[in-house]
Amino acid sequence: MFDSSEVTDLVSLTAWFGAYCRSFRSADPEVQRNFDLKELHTRKVCEAARLIAAEGGERRQMLAQVAALCHDLGRFPQYREYRTFLDSESVNHAHLSAQVLKQSSLLDFLPKEERDSVYFAVRLHNVFQIPAGLPAATEDLLRLVRDADKIDIWRVFIDYFFAPEGERASAAGLGFPDLPYCSDEVLKAVEAGRMVELTMLKSLNDFKLLQLSWVYDINFVTTHKLIKERSLVPQLAATLPDDAVVRGIVDRVQGYLEDRLAANSAT
Ligand SMILES: [Fe+2]
Repeated sequence: MFDSSEVTDLVSLTAWFGAYCRSFRSADPEVQRNFDLKELHTRKVCEAARLIAAEGGERRQMLAQVAALCHDLGRFPQYREYRTFLDSESVNHAHLSAQVLKQSSLLDFLPKEERDSVYFAVRLHNVFQIPAGLPAATEDLLRLVRDADKIDIWRVFIDYFFAPEGERASAAGLGFPDLPYCSDEVLKAVEAGRMVELTMLKSLNDFKLLQLSWVYDINFVTTHKLIKERSLVPQLAATLPDDAVVRGIVDRVQGYLEDRLAANSAT
């Protein structure tokens, strides 16, 4: 694996990332499937970050991809050590990603201010709420990475829910029991236009609703457009129980998305 001191730009960082993934290779096909899932996820988050940052100039687009490439570095040691992607049962994977950055020279090719922005965008990418008081450039990068991450997490879960059981990456479902109902507290949150919190989850259906509620936490109109173009809301909805309450909630989320798109096309 080549050394992180050889990283001089986005291209060499991308090559380093490939070598980093290979360094976790496992002979166990189930373990390897979970590593492959995170490698592909990272590459797709990079693509989404490039699209979402497209209007902000080349430098912003490059930084968005650097942050995207680094955001889940911690997933690899997390899974190797704990065999789970559930932070509550292991470690905060975003902190672990930030630690990998701190212990390497990966970001040394960037000026100090940009290096700090990427570092905090990585470290904070999974927080429930963005903290106040961040420098504007850091907050922008954090919002970009969070949008790009969500766009691809939806793809991962839609693939997971539609895959035959034997082909699923075992750690992707996070171990929630596949019970036939949704919790009231979770339904109420989505109905009220609020994000669902991880602590509310009791079933896989609750987890699907949590993902639906992420639509309320999207920052950029390009991301809203990608959600619509990729039919992510209807695809996620198709995995939920087909009853009147759930249909009402899906309509509420879809309506929110349409409102955001309409508001933007009117300005
Ligand atoms: Fe993450």
